[in-house]
Amino acid sequence: MKIEFETRPLEQVEINTLVAYGFENAPGASGTVELLHDDIRGVIAELNADRELNGKNYECTLIHRPVGLAAQKLLLVGAGKKNKFDEHHLRRLAGAGARHLRARGIREFAWIVDGAALEGYGIQAITEGLIIADYDADRYRTERNDEKRIERVVLATNGAMPGLAAEFGLNAGRIIAEAQNFTRDLVNEPSNTMTPGILARKAEEMAGEYGLECQILGTDEIKEMKMGAFWGVAQGSSEPPRLIVLRYVHPEAAETPVIGIIGKGITFDSGGISIKPAENMHEMKTDMAGGAAMLGVMRALAQVKPRAHVIAVIPATENMPGGRSYKPGDVLTSMSGKTIEVLNTDAEGRLVLADALTYAKQLGCDVLIDAATLTGAVMIALGNICTGVFGWNQEWVNRILASADSTGERMWQLPIDDDYREQYKSLVADIANTGGRYGGAITAAMFIGEFAGDTPWVHLDIAGTRWTNEEKPYLAKGPTGVGVRTLVHLLTHLE
Ligand code: BES
Ligand code: MN
Ligand code: ZN
Repeated sequence: MKIEFETRPLEQVEINTLVAYGFENAPGASGTVELLHDDIRGVIAELNADRELNGKNYECTLIHRPVGLAAQKLLLVGAGKKNKFDEHHLRRLAGAGARHLRARGIREFAWIVDGAALEGYGIQAITEGLIIADYDADRYRTERNDEKRIERVVLATNGAMPGLAAEFGLNAGRIIAEAQNFTRDLVNEPSNTMTPGILARKAEEMAGEYGLECQILGTDEIKEMKMGAFWGVAQGSSEPPRLIVLRYVHPEAAETPVIGIIGKGITFDSGGISIKPAENMHEMKTDMAGGAAMLGVMRALAQVKPRAHVIAVIPATENMPGGRSYKPGDVLTSMSGKTIEVLNTDAEGRLVLADALTYAKQLGCDVLIDAATLTGAVMIALGNICTGVFGWNQEWVNRILASADSTGERMWQLPIDDDYREQYKSLVADIANTGGRYGGAITAAMFIGEFAGDTPWVHLDIAGTRWTNEEKPYLAKGPTGVGVRTLVHLLTHLE
């Protein structure tokens, strides 16, 4: 998708469709509609009076041959309540307009940018909204939406000159949204085309393309390093595991902190011997969404080039039942030395992450941030809207929450507390891998935290937010690429 600025007066922009938005109950006299000339605003007010439109959220109305405009059509997007408007809503409005036009075969349009949007995060938000909206999970369909993908969008400034902030926003928005779509592509792949080996190869390819250091460790190294928890999960699969390690370091980065971003990379989670029910098991191809998010983050960092030092660690394996699988009751010795009693082989995410965190610390990480499709329990607590955030170090939790806020990804902190530790005590080992049904997202998070030790650590449970089964006006059904925007924001605003 080409995105470029256009500074001519709106009336003169020669394009298939010009897009403007207006707020609820005043669609003819608010939002970017206000920048249009009187005649066309009169038409909009008339449509409003006739109740054909009223500016409610995401309402789209296409007007042909709009009077006094060089554009062939005018799309009016309802912007909803004016007091709820911010750049996050702007991101969604741009997406909703884009998806509405795309669905009608219109692949070129102009988005009107007002003075406020030219400053701050406006241009970045619009750019992200457009690129995120122009995605469908239809790779494997013969009838694809390829012929509908948007070709060109002009950001029409109505005479204003875009400054440095606007140019930067366009560039950053493109990098970040494309990274998010890259993550969505990885998550969308089924487990037969996204084995641990393939995920590692994709990571290597991406690293090569963008100049990141990349190291892939296989079965022998995983065993040699005594990653007993990771290997416990991996031993049941015919697909060999991979430990994916990527490094981004800016030549002028301060020596500390080195930030470790660790992503759960279960390419298929059958549950293992504690097998899952058949219904919805296919969704477990997305159990590497945390790992995929970290690859997206690294891809974006390599292009934005912040002064930072970041190491991504992704333990990738399947979780399968079979003659060589780990079994309930087994005791695993983790890389840290802590022994773990396996009470349920379906609680595999925390096991692979335990060793990945230990490894990240060994590599010299001063801060650990993990993202994982860890628990069904977080979906009960927060649904599909908010990612669950956990951590002992409130300063780093707050940084994550602030970055989530700045990028329009919704996240919510859930508590952790020493009193919950009782729930995952074991008779025969140092710790058990499940803590019962109650507070399942909390005990799972705390289990991982046991391996962070004193190192500041934040855990994101993205089980609910990794995928959407509902099409939104601004977003296709399928993988969301959650986590990429928040973490890229955090890692580009460390100074
Ligand atoms: N990958 C699942 C969690 C999950 C569930 C992600 C639904 C996305 C959608 C995880 O490995 C798992 O199976 N967790 C168990 C833990 C339990 C056995 C303690 C769960 O949440 O049921
Ligand atoms: Mn599981
Ligand atoms: Zn899992």
